[in-house]
Amino acid sequence: MPPPSRPTPPDDAPDHAPAPSDQRPATLDACRRCDLWRNATHGVPGDGPTPAPVMVVGEQPGNQEDLAGKAFVGPAGRLLDEAFAKAGLSRESVFLTNAVKHFKWELRGKRRLHKTPAQREIEACGYWLEDEFERVAPRVVVALGATALKAVLGVKATSLRKVLGQPIEHDGRTVIPTYHPSYALRVPDPAAREAAFDEIVAALKLAAKFSGKATRKRAGAAVTKRAAAPRSKPASKPGPKPGPKPGSKPAAKP
Ligand code: URA
Repeated sequence: MPPPSRPTPPDDAPDHAPAPSDQRPATLDACRRCDLWRNATHGVPGDGPTPAPVMVVGEQPGNQEDLAGKAFVGPAGRLLDEAFAKAGLSRESVFLTNAVKHFKWELRGKRRLHKTPAQREIEACGYWLEDEFERVAPRVVVALGATALKAVLGVKATSLRKVLGQPIEHDGRTVIPTYHPSYALRVPDPAAREAAFDEIVAALKLAAKFSGKATRKRAGAAVTKRAAAPRSKPASKPGPKPGPKPGSKPAAKP
């Protein structure tokens, strides 16, 4: 059974109150930058070491993640665990997060079914993703699916298939686009399912490789900037101090 929706807050905001996406909450629980918090059980923050050489970004928490308050603990997470194991990358060594931190869903019968987040929700939640980028300082970012890719690149549209598995230098990081594990779970054709899983494994292997080499490679590389408008940062940042920005220091040997 879905948990009951939270009560709507009183409509007492003054006329001059900033638009929700201009708010700068200090915690995810206090976040009202979009409306997804209303029907979610938990905001689900990213999880993993800070700093970490590799960050893996999904779309948004699913039903089980919403209930547990932890990213990738449901079926997609189990498939991702298999992919990590096959790629020889430990889940504990990467920072695992989502582009959007609250579960967006619609009721079908008794089930809460995933709904793709809207662009304005991705942008509102970019505030938290940006904070995670600062704290994690990843050299490599694996984007799982089109929503994650748009969020990581700060663009409104992208064709995942055109760039699948191809490293993109962006904002001083190497971004590796791949399929979302949910796609690899639900695509009907077994051969396509296997191919999608293999793509995810290949992307994780590439991430492991680039995370060792990226600093040296990037020392002389041009740093691309976000296409989207700069996002404001959380008012107070929980967690440890950010590590050095990739590309901001002389190359370290892998
Ligand atoms: N799908 C995601 O993108 N993230 C999760 O945490 C779970 C499912």
